Amino acid sequence: MAIERTLSIIKPDGLKSHVIGKVISRFEEKGLTPVAIRLQQLSQAEAEGFYAVHKARPFFKDLVSFMISGPVVLMVLQGENAVLANRDLMGATDPKKADKGTIRADFAKSIDQNTVHGSDSLENAKNEIAYFFRETEIHA
Ligand code: TYD
Repeated sequence: MAIERTLSIIKPDGLKSHVIGKVISRFEEKGLTPVAIRLQQLSQAEAEGFYAVHKARPFFKDLVSFMISGPVVLMVLQGENAVLANRDLMGATDPKKADKGTIRADFAKSIDQNTVHGSDSLENAKNEIAYFFRETEIHA
């Protein structure tokens, strides 16, 4: 098993519904340790840049508006197979299709306000972590 790092974001709906602690507990209980954490209000440019891969998708504009509608929690999680382990804890993109007991099934209201982001590959994790954190902000 490889020790990996992945980027997690608790989205604005997660802060509005006061589940930061519950979400982080789920990570810690499964051996995903936050090694960097920051509460941040994203700018429009930061959100657009982060989701640039979705630029041509019909939901892009609403996604960016939602991501800047309030602060988010940015985190680097470290642990065994962190990328996949985090995706398993998150559940499917659409909370209606997410397995019971996953973060999105339990806390998210809709596909467009789905409480958490998690990198979907090791390569993307490296890029997403570097997008938000300097190495000196990561405390392994
Ligand atoms: P995506 O990368 O497909 O999902 P995931 O977050 O599970 O990796 O999509 C990124 C975000 O875009 C998703 O979390 C919520 C938003 N989104 C919508 O609002 N509507 C949609 O139909 C899809 C596919 C995504």
